Amino acid sequence: MKISVIGTGYVGLVTGTCLAETGNEVICVDIDETKVKQMQQGVVPIYEPHLDVLFERNIKANRLRFSTSLEEGLNHGEIIFLALPTPEDEDGSADLSYVLGVAKNIGKLLKEYKVIVDKSTVPVGTSDKVKDVISNETNVEFDVVSNPEFLREGFAVDDFLKPERIVIGSSSDRASKLMSKLYKPFVRSGNPIIIMDEKSAELTKYAANSFLATKITFMNEIANFCELVGADVDKVRAGIGTDSRIGKRFLFPGIGYGGSCFPKDVKALHKSGKDNNYDFQILNSVIKVNDIQKKILIPKILNHFESNLKGKVFAVWGLAFKPETDDIREAASLYLIEELLKHGADLNVFDPEAMPNVEKKLGSKITYSANMYEATNNADAIIICTEWSIFRTPNFSKLRQNMKLPVIFDGRNLYDVNDVKSEGFHYTSIGRKP
Ligand code: UGA
Repeated sequence: MKISVIGTGYVGLVTGTCLAETGNEVICVDIDETKVKQMQQGVVPIYEPHLDVLFERNIKANRLRFSTSLEEGLNHGEIIFLALPTPEDEDGSADLSYVLGVAKNIGKLLKEYKVIVDKSTVPVGTSDKVKDVISNETNVEFDVVSNPEFLREGFAVDDFLKPERIVIGSSSDRASKLMSKLYKPFVRSGNPIIIMDEKSAELTKYAANSFLATKITFMNEIANFCELVGADVDKVRAGIGTDSRIGKRFLFPGIGYGGSCFPKDVKALHKSGKDNNYDFQILNSVIKVNDIQKKILIPKILNHFESNLKGKVFAVWGLAFKPETDDIREAASLYLIEELLKHGADLNVFDPEAMPNVEKKLGSKITYSANMYEATNNADAIIICTEWSIFRTPNFSKLRQNMKLPVIFDGRNLYDVNDVKSEGFHYTSIGRKP
C-alpha cells in the first residue's frame, strides 16, 4: 500500500519505517529541512534500538522516502498518518495547534479520497475537530480514523512489529477495511485488531497510560510504607504480582515515572476530566505522589549527611528517564540534580546515552564523566537514577578504591541489599530495609 506519515518525531519515524518493512511504499514528511536532508542521507535523527537497521534497509529498497512537501505526501498515500506533536499546554491540556494546522492544509490540498489517521495522543473528540477543520476546506470525500500507538521507547520497533493489539477508532467501513489490511501482517500471531468508535479509541490511549502510571505510583506508595513498617517491597511485589489479575509487570518501585508520555498524558486526562465537569481524583493523587517520589532520595541523602551537602561530591549514575533511551524529558535525575545543586553539592554524572541532552540543558553546572567509574572518583556517594544494565554488576572493590566513602543511594533497586552490604557499602534503596 502507499502510505504517508506527516511528522517524523519518534512515533512518525518508527511508524513510517516499520510500515515500509512490511512492503509498503512510505513517504515521511517533515517541515524541518535539515532533518529531512539528514534522513535522506540515511541518518536516523533519534536513538532507538534496531531502528537504524530497518531504516537503512528500507531506504535502499526505495520503500522509504522523505520530503518537506505536505502536498507530495498527501498525493502519495492512500492512508495519511498524522504523527504530530501534542505538547502540554500551561494548563496541562494537549496543545492541538500542530494537528489542526496540518488538518487545515490537508483540506486545502485534498484531491481524492484519503484516510487521515490520528496517531498522536489526542484528547477525546479530536477526530471530530480534525473532520470539521478538513471539511471546512473541501468537498472531497475523506475519513478520519483514530489509531493510538502503544510503543515504548527503547522497544518501539519490536512493539510496532509485534503489537499486543491494534486499536482502530473508525465509524467508516471503508476506512476500517483499509486500516485492517495495513495492519494484518503485524497480527499474524492472532493478536486482535480492535475496532471501535473514534472517541473510545482516543480515550483508550489515555486510559492505558494513566492506568500504568497509577499502577507504578501505587507501588511507590507501598514501597514508602514498607520503609516505615519494616516490610520489604520486593517480597510484597512477588506476593501480589503472582495474582494474574494484578500481573507482574509495572510493579517496580523507584524514583517516579517520567518520560514524554506518562506525565503529559496523566495531566491531560485529568484536565480533560475537568473540562467535562469530572474530577479525576485518582489522577490528581497520582500526579502529586509522583512529584514527591521524584525527589524521594533527597531526605534520605540529607539524613545520611546530617543535612550538610555543601562540597559533598556525588556520582550520579543514569540521567535518561529510563534505560535504552537518550530521552531526559521529565527524568527524575533532573529533579534530583536540581535539589542537590541547591544544597551546594558537586555532581559528577554518567549516562551511556543521555549526557549530550543533559549538557544542552545544564551546561557546566555539573561534571560529565567518561564512564561510570570515573564519575565515582573521590565521591561521597553514588546516586542511581536509571537502571541501565551496565550499572547492575559494578566492580565494587574498584568503587571502594575510587570513593571517599562507600555509600550508594539507589533509586531503582538494582542490587540485592545483603550483597551490597557484604561489599562494605552503606546502601539505601526504595521500600527495602537498609
Ligand atoms: C509508555 C507506555 O509504556 C507505552 O505503552 C506508550 O505507548 C508510551 O508511553 C507512549 O504513550 O508513547 P514509555 O514512556 O516509553 O512508554 O516508557 P515506559 O517503559 O512505560 O516507562 C515509563 C516510566 O515509568 C519510566 O520513567 C519508568 O522508569 C517508569 N516505570 C516503569 C517504573 O517506575 N516502574 C515500573 O515498574 C515501570
